[in-house]
Amino acid sequence: MSKLKAAIIGCGTIATSAHLPAYQAAADLADVKYFVDIIPQRAEKLRDVYGSGKALTDYRDILDDPELSCVSVCTPNTSHAPITIDFLKAGKHVLCEKPAAVNANLAADMQKAADENGKILNIGVVNRFNTAVNKIQEMISAGELGNLYHVYCSFRAHRSIPGLGGPFTTKSEAGGGVLIDWGVHFLDLIYFCIGQPALKTVSAATYSVLGRDLKNYVFESMWAGPPDYEGTYDVDDFVTGLVRTEGPTLNLNGAWAQNIGEGAMFIEFLGDLGGIKLNYGGSFTFYSTKNGMLSETRYTFESDNMFNAEIRDFLIKAPQGIKTKANIDNAILTSQLMDLIYDSAAKGEEIKV
Ligand SMILES: NC(=O)c1ccc[n+]([C@@H]2O[C@H](COP(=O)([O-])OP(=O)(O)OC[C@H]3O[C@@H](n4cnc5c(N)ncnc54)[C@H](O)[C@@H]3O)[C@@H](O)[C@H]2O)c1
Repeated sequence: MSKLKAAIIGCGTIATSAHLPAYQAAADLADVKYFVDIIPQRAEKLRDVYGSGKALTDYRDILDDPELSCVSVCTPNTSHAPITIDFLKAGKHVLCEKPAAVNANLAADMQKAADENGKILNIGVVNRFNTAVNKIQEMISAGELGNLYHVYCSFRAHRSIPGLGGPFTTKSEAGGGVLIDWGVHFLDLIYFCIGQPALKTVSAATYSVLGRDLKNYVFESMWAGPPDYEGTYDVDDFVTGLVRTEGPTLNLNGAWAQNIGEGAMFIEFLGDLGGIKLNYGGSFTFYSTKNGMLSETRYTFESDNMFNAEIRDFLIKAPQGIKTKANIDNAILTSQLMDLIYDSAAKGEEIKV
């Protein structure tokens, strides 16, 4: 079988640190033919690291290339929907970074474009390829936790606002702050592990506090930086919420920045037979009882590189028309829940779904 031809659109942080190495690791399946970025030096730099291919500034120039079949969209959130839809309409399969889009209506438009054009659209729900997360999903579906009644998640950092004043903190470009940037990963991971129980009510509050006064935001280092003090900061840096579903309740607290020194990045799954605490991106502990005693089990296992697994899954299954766990059909509920959280916060009241 001849190798696929792929393209990377947006040659910034995630393209450089995750997508490019994953395509290099999948050299048996695909060649990256195009590197596209509106900043030409970024496209050229990534092309040079890869060692072949063409660097371009306008993705529309490659829509009609019949050889091109698979595309990674790694641009800022606001351009996910238009770029993805253009490629789907041009007959290409797309792996679009998370969040699917800046709101659920646009995510639904992307889903529709995939279906209407018979192409595969995956979202960068990379935790679905994390070994620990898959083990937890298996344990929950095997009933090892018993009746799962609550899930708590915390994605809180001391000082971690990205690119202050830039696209990450500008609502018109990012769609939101810590919820849409970090919360999307946590909510998707939870849905993957617990199934997709229908939503009943959502009650949430968001705060835009510590970054508002740009010049007085104190920090040690800044990812996606440096700060642009003339830029915009109109997104949430803290979110809290309670979600009732037909299954367990979900409770979330997230902070890009807070006046508490310890970060807290974890998810707890509470069942009547057992509970699991997952340290986000790391290992997990299973708590239960046995023979009248409290038990605590730590598991160790070999971990796959989740970005490599995500891109291999895309390159193998998309050309066969196979929808996998990363498909937009499985990611859209997270977009809908994030919209409801923002809606409840804006209205200051609980939303009945
Ligand atoms: N899966 C993950 O864990 C993860 C981690 C980081 C970022 N992301 C997502 O990846 C996306 C990109 O984030 P990043 O941190 O790499 O941002 P970034 O700013 O470092 O890179 C984005 C790049 O896209 C380019 N770009 C903007 N508009 C473009 C267009 N129309 N055509 C071509 N290029 C364009 C920019 O010039 C920039 O180089 C975001 O949606 C983010 O949420 C995902």
